[in-house]
Amino acid sequence: MTSAHSDPAPVTVRVPAKVNLELLVGPLRDDGFHTLSTVYQAVNLHDDVTVAVNDEWACSVVGPYADVVPTDSNNLAVRAARLLADETAIDTPVHVTINKSIPVAGGMAGGSADAAAALVACDRLWSLGLTTEELEEYAAELGSDVPFLIRGGTAMGSGRGERLAPVLARGSYHWVFAISDIGLSTPDVYAECDRLRGKAVVPEPRPNSELMSALRTGDPHVLAPQLSNDLQDAAISLRPELGSLLESGMEFGALGGVVSGSGPTVAFLVEDVEAAIDLTVALTATGAAREVRKAVGPVHGAHVIPARVD
Ligand code: C5P
Repeated sequence: MTSAHSDPAPVTVRVPAKVNLELLVGPLRDDGFHTLSTVYQAVNLHDDVTVAVNDEWACSVVGPYADVVPTDSNNLAVRAARLLADETAIDTPVHVTINKSIPVAGGMAGGSADAAAALVACDRLWSLGLTTEELEEYAAELGSDVPFLIRGGTAMGSGRGERLAPVLARGSYHWVFAISDIGLSTPDVYAECDRLRGKAVVPEPRPNSELMSALRTGDPHVLAPQLSNDLQDAAISLRPELGSLLESGMEFGALGGVVSGSGPTVAFLVEDVEAAIDLTVALTATGAAREVRKAVGPVHGAHVIPARVD
């Protein structure tokens, strides 16, 4: 790594995972994406992404999921950093280090989160001074849910998910995520959703006003029945064991359960932290999920944190 005196200090950004409280899938567009109406919530499962000035573009991944994340130019965080450099005529390569704890390929936007973090980190490292709106525009070029990981909180997404609008949400919600190791690719789940729909005419998705009212109460009992995901049937059709996992979580006392994004992670909403601990223990004991983690939302989007001292 370069150690020239004038190099700016490395920048570390912490970024959350997301869960979709509602994911309504509309018609397939000509560009291969589907029109969505979704409500995202950021939860406190985090990755930390550090960028440091370097002689060449480079990437390393550390943490429990390190061995399943590419470190070449397919890495979304590297793509994000290079996109921002190209767009702003920056000629200073960086070494991107991802401390990964968001489940990989789980429907929790882990790769998108790293891309969002890299944009925010490089903006600071290169002193670009971009606004959140400008960063969200670059984010949209990298993936449908990357802009939300910059914004965080609870927000509505339309278009292919990248057009954000604020949502008034009170309180904090306790979640338990059952992370399974059965692979599910996002494009395959959307394709299965289309297949199951056959020739049915699919209306433009409209946000559910009862979900919006529920979020204003701050009461998980009111929110739980409003959780929904149009990709859930498709995910269960491809991986039937996800249906049993949902049933187990409900039998063990969850208030509501939903496949997260395109899966295979299943998100359970519970009453409070004690209920989260109980459900985590019960689901872990079944062995039906590779890992069970509790989390709280909403939390902030990608933000700079003090340098790690490891
Ligand atoms: O933009 P993102 O990386 O999330 O998209 C991954 C894939 O998911 C797309 O290539 C597409 O197959 C599918 N997708 C979709 N409609 C959306 C978002 C994603 O069909 N609105």
